[in-house]
Amino acid sequence: MHKGFTLWFTGLSGAGKSTLTDLLEAEFKRRGYKVEVLDGDVVRTNLSKGLGFSKEDRDINIRRIGFVCDLLSRNGVIAISAAISPYQAIRDENRQLVESHGAAFIEVFCKCSLDELVRRDVKGLYKKALSGEIQNFTGVSDPYEEPQNPEILVQSDTESVEDSLRKILSYLEEHDLIGKDDTAQAGSAA
Ligand code: ADX
Repeated sequence: MHKGFTLWFTGLSGAGKSTLTDLLEAEFKRRGYKVEVLDGDVVRTNLSKGLGFSKEDRDINIRRIGFVCDLLSRNGVIAISAAISPYQAIRDENRQLVESHGAAFIEVFCKCSLDELVRRDVKGLYKKALSGEIQNFTGVSDPYEEPQNPEILVQSDTESVEDSLRKILSYLEEHDLIGKDDTAQAGSAA
């Protein structure tokens, strides 16, 4: 059985977390690994259904995702979290939980400027947040604590998706979390 670990994405809405985790999921499967993605938007329709966006609810949501990532990664699965996870303390709590059971926890910071996120506004939420129609919106009217020391930094406003993907896979290969794959063209995983 291959090693399990947790790949913890954090970043503002629209910064590229889901895009990258979808591609990674496909790439890990192609290489024969067991993988599960816990996407914030999806988790909020089942495991965290009914939770809102107060600090208390976000903390519960992120602890739940951390709990599942721990179960998966200590049983040989690659667990990928793709939630905003705005608070460093809860991210660190999840790190400790996962590491306490012998699995690695890799924090991936998806950085993107607010200007670019507002320009893209794929879901139309930034417009609503800026006009006050949605309150407590992360990055606009609610806190986001940037990771101070992420294992991996990707920047969707200055690098391509392929570059970010390559960066993540290289890190995992260099740290022996996945095997090297000379035949792979990660960019074609989609
Ligand atoms: S987290 O803060 O608890 O980690 P999570 O990643 O699950 O957030 O959910 C974020 C998604 O919920 C966003 O991508 C967006 O689509 C939606 N959303 C709705 N309201 C808010 C809000 N006030 N702040 C942030 N995201 C929101």
